[in-house]
Order: sequence, then structure tokens, then C-alpha cells
Amino acid sequence: MGYVISVVNMKGGVGKTTITVNLATSLAKDHGMRVLIVDLDTQINATLSLMPPLQFAALKKENHTLKQLIHQLIQSNSEPKIPAKNIIVKDICKVKGLDLLPGDIEQYNDFLLAATLYAQSNKNQQDFERNWNILEDCLLQNILVSVTNDYDFILLDFPPGDYLLTRSGIIASDFYLIPAKPEPLSVIGIGILEGHIKKLKESKRSNITLIGLVFSSIGHATNLAPRVKKRVTADFGEEKIFNTEIPLNVAVAKAVDEFKPVVLTEPKAAGAKAFVELTKEFLQKLSNTLATRG
Ligand SMILES: Nc1ncnc2c1ncn2[C@@H]1O[C@H](COP(=O)(O)OP(=O)(O)OP(=O)(O)O)[C@@H](O)[C@H]1O
Ligand SMILES: [Mg+2]
Repeated sequence: MGYVISVVNMKGGVGKTTITVNLATSLAKDHGMRVLIVDLDTQINATLSLMPPLQFAALKKENHTLKQLIHQLIQSNSEPKIPAKNIIVKDICKVKGLDLLPGDIEQYNDFLLAATLYAQSNKNQQDFERNWNILEDCLLQNILVSVTNDYDFILLDFPPGDYLLTRSGIIASDFYLIPAKPEPLSVIGIGILEGHIKKLKESKRSNITLIGLVFSSIGHATNLAPRVKKRVTADFGEEKIFNTEIPLNVAVAKAVDEFKPVVLTEPKAAGAKAFVELTKEFLQKLSNTLATRG
């Protein structure tokens, strides 16, 4: 069974999507792993980092996006169901073993989910709350259950912030990876995330374990960076901080315009090399985490 991994920070713009697509690509290309990327963000940045907008538009027209799978799970009608396997795009960017479950710009947001569940609960508040918690516990697990055996890794790319899909993804995950910028607000995003995860674990709804925290130097470097890194290292322990840091590199930003990850467009660029190193360290850290978790 594949490991489900959340790439998550409550803060936006810290490199979650860029790390997800490049780590996944390197796992497939350099290590022969079978990897699925699941785009849980209505910004569809992971999807558009791997395919041109016209290809996405064609999939959307056919309802071949994550939204359809969510719809099928929450609407109990007798429409013919499209299995997850038929929605997943195989060997994306022509990389063998690299698959994508495309996101959707109109994914179910919390308001739509709540409205649907409230109607299904006959507007009874207690029933609604119970059904909401059940949905949170099961949504992502049910979406992934039929394909988990097909992969070594399933990487979840989240939007910033705390939504039902995010909590459901965390509940479905075995491990998580935190991308962060070495700046104070990014650290606040980590603190909020850790608070949410602590609550889910205390209520026995999640058994997720941290693999590590990756610093990505997007934006202007500040002289606060060393202080921030020191604080985070003190909080998480040195063994949880990746030695590999992702440098600010124009090739990384340019790759998005080619709808491919930088490890494919410019493998010699500093950013691409860092992602390849990050992938090796990721596998090492995962193995250490598995050993200590028992
Ligand atoms: N190493 C890098 N060098 C240059 N630009 C980068 C680098 N990493 C990411 N970027 C760019 O910075 C922006 C934010 O990165 P990214 O989309 O990965 O962050 P995110 O955490 O997924 O954001 P969001 O919270 O909006 O989903 C993007 O435009 C991306 O192309
Ligand atoms: Mg993103």
C-alpha cells in the first residue's frame, strides 16, 4: 500500500505546490517510484504545473476532475459513477509512473458541502454535525481507497488555510511534510497547522507523523532567516529539518510557464538540483521516521 503524504502549511505561497510536483517527479523519474499527485486546491496550481490549460479544459468538460469524485461521494443518487482510475491522468509530462488526479476550479467548498449535508440531515443540527465529522473522516480515504495499492506514494497538494478537504486529507495521510519560508509569518502558519494536527491526533482521528520541514527561499531573503530557522529547529529537533534548502531560482518560476516541473525543463538549474537532493533526503528521512515510529 502506498504512503499518503500531506504537503502542508496553513500559510500561502511558501512553496507547497512547487515542492509537491518536483518531489513527485523526481521520485518517479530518478527512483522508479509510482507516484500520484492529488490536487486539492481550487487554484489548480499543481494541475497547471503539469499540463497546459487546454488539456485541463478538456478534462473539465468531461467531468474528469476531483470534483466529480467528491460529487459522487456526497450525492447519493444513482448516476453511473466514474471510477478514480478513469479520472487519473497517467504518466503525466511523459514521466513513467507519475500520475495526477486533477483538481477543479469549482471544487466543493465548505459552504457547498455544508449546504448539501444540512439538506441531507433534514436540517437537524445534531445529525448535520455527525454527518460533517463522518465526511471529514472518510472523504479523502474513500476517494483514494481504490487506487492506494497502485502507488508507492500519494502526495496531497493543499490550499492554504483550514478547510474540510484539508482536514480530510490530513486524516487520510500517513505522513506530512511542511514547506516553509524562513520568515516569521510562515512560522505562524506552521504553529496553526501543528495546533490542528494535535487536535486531530488527540481525538484519535489522525495518526499522521511528520517527516520533516523544508525551507524554500521564495521572495526576498531577510536577515531574520537565521533566527527563524534556529527557532524552528529548536521546536522540531534538528533531525526533522531538511539539510537541503530550495534556493530562489528563476528556472523554477519559468518552468510553470511550460506546464512542467523544473526537474524536467532545466535539470541543470540550481533549483532542479536542489529538488533532486531534496528527494534523496526525503527517502532517507522517511526511512528514519519509519524506524523510530516502529
Ligand atoms: N525556488 C523557487 N524559485 C523561484 N520561484 C519559486 C520557487 N518556488 C516557488 N516559486 C514560485 O513562488 C510562487 C509560490 O510557490 P508555490 O505556488 O509553490 O507556493 P504554495 O505554498 O503552493 O502557494 P499557495 O499557498 O498559493 O498554494 C509560485 O509562483 C512559484 O512558481
Ligand atoms: Mg499551492
